[in-house]
Amino acid sequence: MLWYCFIYPQVADEIGESVYDKTSMKTFKTAAIACGIDFGTSNTTVALANGRDASITLVPVEEQHLTIPSTVFFPSESPEAFFGRKAIHAYVAREEGRFMRSFKRVLGTSLMKDGTTISGTKTRFEHIIGHFIEHIKNKAELLADMGIENVVAGRPVHFVDGNDKADREAEGQLEAIFAAAGFKHVRFQYEPIAAAFAHELNMGDKEMLAVVIDIGGGTSDFTIMRLSGRYIHKHERQEDILANAGTRIGGNDFDRALSLKCFMPLLGLGSLWGSKGLGFPLTPFFDLSELSKIQYMYTQKYKRDLRGLIGQANDKALTRRLLTIVEEELGHTLMSRVEESKIQLSSSEQATADLAFIEEGLQVHLDRSQFEESLFGSIENIQKTINECVVQAGVKADAVALVILTGGGTAIPMIRQLTRGIFPHAEISEGNRLSSVGFGLACDARRYYLDGD
Ligand SMILES: Nc1ncnc2c1ncn2[C@@H]1O[C@H](COP(=O)(O)OP(=O)(O)OP(=O)(O)O)[C@@H](O)[C@H]1O
Ligand SMILES: [Mg+2]
Repeated sequence: MLWYCFIYPQVADEIGESVYDKTSMKTFKTAAIACGIDFGTSNTTVALANGRDASITLVPVEEQHLTIPSTVFFPSESPEAFFGRKAIHAYVAREEGRFMRSFKRVLGTSLMKDGTTISGTKTRFEHIIGHFIEHIKNKAELLADMGIENVVAGRPVHFVDGNDKADREAEGQLEAIFAAAGFKHVRFQYEPIAAAFAHELNMGDKEMLAVVIDIGGGTSDFTIMRLSGRYIHKHERQEDILANAGTRIGGNDFDRALSLKCFMPLLGLGSLWGSKGLGFPLTPFFDLSELSKIQYMYTQKYKRDLRGLIGQANDKALTRRLLTIVEEELGHTLMSRVEESKIQLSSSEQATADLAFIEEGLQVHLDRSQFEESLFGSIENIQKTINECVVQAGVKADAVALVILTGGGTAIPMIRQLTRGIFPHAEISEGNRLSSVGFGLACDARRYYLDGD
């Protein structure tokens, strides 16, 4: 069996993301095939494990891109949905239809039962997520040139915090979605363990005690395990995994915190309401700052109720902006500006968000310290969860020799400082932040489904 054929194209595109390198194209026909799918809150990746030559290949999931934003757009006038960047473009171009993102966050919550209304039809989230997974599966099958029945799917350590039942339900819902999409065999692996497997491919023979810090869009996940290039062949890895921990906090929560602190006050958060001088009700500001809730603001009833509320607002110059966003369904545009500002603040001390789409000349100036203040509660929770992981592993933080950073949120300077503070002596390694999990899941798929040794 050939083991060292890893195809991990590192050609960077305009935003530094990996894109598909055509020279690495392989023929998969006649080979046994399995895949790993990292269905992320923000981005999704897929990698193929080829039984013929034991290679692992990231799949170009949207044109030449090796990642696809986890988004969908259902046009009002057509049954054909758009996905990824195409869905974002349709929304930005203000085509008629329903745009959705962050639907992974709905798994294990009561919204799975409630569903949502799309083009006047009540639609279950199983259907929406299923549509997206089918699209991804088709992309993988296109590259493989054959059907794929075996998958290892990534999952966070906890879909839902502190509720084992909801957590099991979330995994069950996702498993049923993968099965309905046509996968005959579905296994799950924790996302940070997959990232560790991807890292292991490029390690030497020395064993290292490593911690994976994966800060994604929806969750932060951690694993402490023993890694070595020698273990790539090893089937039973359970003994090497010392601890897993996770919390349902991620980039979406950082966006929400930044939105509430720096953007929502421009729309009336903190202003007065009614003749008794009460504060304007908070719900619309929280709904507008939570990506998975925005679509619920666009019903006729919500708009009517909001108009009623704003009728009694004391500062109509501000709250009129809130009404514009809801009536013109611009919530996702606003949250994109918030997210762009957050990303900019990872590399610059200051950022300016242009809000002219709400009102001519409207802008917001931000500096990193404001963002960091808004992160306080989230950082505390992440720190607590990492510390719990260390305790669970039964090691001292000092014993950790390697920190593997993955997930978009690990670019945030405050998160990097936190990591450095907890593991002061460890070597810090940054793999491919957005695709290491998908790649590692395919390594696992190869181990489960294809290795006949
Ligand atoms: N440079 C950056 N600075 C700060 N945040 C960033 C940066 N780049 C990306 N992000 C954030 O990282 C998140 C996406 O990361 P990633 O693609 O790893 O998540 P995901 O795998 O889809 O989510 P999850 O694993 O939680 O389901 C988004 O919230 C995005 O805004
Ligand atoms: Mg992820």
